[in-house]
Amino acid sequence: MASEGRIEEIKRAALGEISAATTTDELEAVRVRYLGRSAELTEIKKSIGSLPAEERKVVGKGVNVASGEIERDLQSRREELAAAEQEARLRAEAVDVTLPGVTRERGSLHPSLRVVDDIVDFFVGLGYGVAEGPEVETDYYNFTALNIPPGHPARGMQDTFFLDEGLVLRTHTSPGQIRTMLTREPPVYVVVPGKVYRRDSDPTHTPMFHQIEGLAVDRGLTLAHLKGTLAAMARHVFGEEVGIRLRPSYFQFTEPSVELDVSCFACDGRGDPDCRVCKGAGWLEMLGAGMVDPAVLSEVGYDPEEFTGFAFGMGPDRMAMTRYGISDLRLFFEGDLRFLEQF
Ligand code: DAH
Repeated sequence: MASEGRIEEIKRAALGEISAATTTDELEAVRVRYLGRSAELTEIKKSIGSLPAEERKVVGKGVNVASGEIERDLQSRREELAAAEQEARLRAEAVDVTLPGVTRERGSLHPSLRVVDDIVDFFVGLGYGVAEGPEVETDYYNFTALNIPPGHPARGMQDTFFLDEGLVLRTHTSPGQIRTMLTREPPVYVVVPGKVYRRDSDPTHTPMFHQIEGLAVDRGLTLAHLKGTLAAMARHVFGEEVGIRLRPSYFQFTEPSVELDVSCFACDGRGDPDCRVCKGAGWLEMLGAGMVDPAVLSEVGYDPEEFTGFAFGMGPDRMAMTRYGISDLRLFFEGDLRFLEQF
């Protein structure tokens, strides 16, 4: 029979386990063990009815007092543990808002594109329009219309990628001149930036590279206008102090033809024998140019007696190489971020 002594024992064991519990889950297990449906105290409570009347009162009271005390202890320990658990969770989930954020890499403009943008901006500032043409070009636009008929030896110098019949990868942006003139009446002032292709690969040549073509056709344009325009562009790109010179040259679609050199910006045009940039020449080759050949004007239906024009073509990749002191052009197009990130 359950004695008061046993009830006291159970209570003391329960209170001991309650204070020893370290989590709310452990505490819940203690509750089930001491107050649950099959707990010893519960069994005692159920048996009260069958006790002799005088014991009934004493045992009943003892059980009630004991379970009341266990209940209270459980409650206060539960509050303690829950608070501690919440505290621990908050600490574990804390976000340190003072830590640096996750940064995203930002792209940058390709060195060639910087030069292209710079030059195109300059000409837009002078009132030139910007045109583009297809990279797959017809033989006619790339060669014939530019005064380079089939069989002409100049074709052999271009290392052309030939595609299907009559199509080539354009070897220069000069077909942009023809396309522009065929769709517009003079006066025409336009620059044509774009990609061009030649079968060539070494430290200073890549199978694809960039060019910017320029064309002006108007009444009364002379070589002096060409020289003034190119000098202004050179000052824009290389600074006010830059010197320029024109050398006679030859292109099929211009007559006369010239090449433009700019004074070396690294040695101020002195031509220092150990100058890295001009290798002692004092000058840097910059572009080809000339007065549009009357045969080209006639080809597109402009009257060469009424209109004259000048044209020029330059390689912005080369200009970027000199500007940034890069000795291998192939680096430009390998897509290596360690190189490209430097710009
Ligand atoms: N198309 C020439 C080349 O690729 C460059 C050039 C020279 C363009 C003279 C011109 C020009 O417009 O007048 O080498």
